[in-house]
Amino acid sequence: MSHFLDIHKTDDAELRKIMEAAHAMKAARAGRPKGATDDDHPLAGRIVALVFEKPSTRTRVSFDVGVRQMGGQTLVLSGQDMQLGHGETIADTARVLSRYVDLIMLRTFREDTLLELAEHATVPVINGLTDRTHPCQIMADIMTFEEHRGPIAGKKVVWAGDGNNVCASFLHAAAPFGFELTISGPEQLDPEPEFVQGARAQGASVTFDRNLETAVAGADLIVADTWVSMHDAASTRERRHNLLRPYQVNEDLMALAKPETLFMHCLPAHREEEVTSAVMDGPHSVIFDEAENRLHAQKAILRWCLGV
Ligand code: CP
Ligand code: NVA
Repeated sequence: MSHFLDIHKTDDAELRKIMEAAHAMKAARAGRPKGATDDDHPLAGRIVALVFEKPSTRTRVSFDVGVRQMGGQTLVLSGQDMQLGHGETIADTARVLSRYVDLIMLRTFREDTLLELAEHATVPVINGLTDRTHPCQIMADIMTFEEHRGPIAGKKVVWAGDGNNVCASFLHAAAPFGFELTISGPEQLDPEPEFVQGARAQGASVTFDRNLETAVAGADLIVADTWVSMHDAASTRERRHNLLRPYQVNEDLMALAKPETLFMHCLPAHREEEVTSAVMDGPHSVIFDEAENRLHAQKAILRWCLGV
């Protein structure tokens, strides 16, 4: 049994295996209806709990569809409707859910909740986003890059904006997948030093460039995310917007990149804030392939966790 809690907690060779499986599984069902079951029914007889303490469109639907395509069943649960939010310990919830289901995917606020669930569950646990990291997203992003441009190793990835949970998982992926990461945002919103130091200690090239216009020179991939994440207090909105406004990804910025530079955003996006519609719908953008690949990447993660 293997948990998928974070990219840096998963062995490098295993990450590569998951990535190759994701590419192969996507190719194997090309052109088939969304509801068609994969030929080998790898999750037949399995039931997966998808637990959400925060809103979600992509994570919810892609995990649910992915399990169904593999012949398994799902339970989509809202944290608010469970005893989780009403005093039952995470440990007891983990023990109970483990008696009913074969795997638990959790989207939550505090990372400690995820870690406690994983510690006490006797079934695999997958991180579907916490305030600190979003590993499934970055697996899909790397898959998307490789689909369009081949191996990501040696490529230059530029993170534009808030040093948030998605940025943290890019930091975790830099060493195992061998890409160079340039972070361009205001110092006040830098990623946690632990993540930066950890990436560098693993051998990753991580640089900071406060000027997004110079940062994007030579970039193979530019990534943006919302300026206000789900865990950020509404009261911080104005300050965040003021700090992040110089880091908008727009057509003028993309003109400084290479013609083949890709643009990604995990979505949901706030059009005309962190990125303009012209870029989202423009020639560099692969945002909807990226969203689709959540499905394929997570199917490979589910199989890896269950060893099927
Ligand atoms: N990118 C992502 O995780 O989207 P959702 O919040 O809609 O799941
Ligand atoms: N940084 C965003 C990602 C959403 C998928 C958030 O945490 O709200």
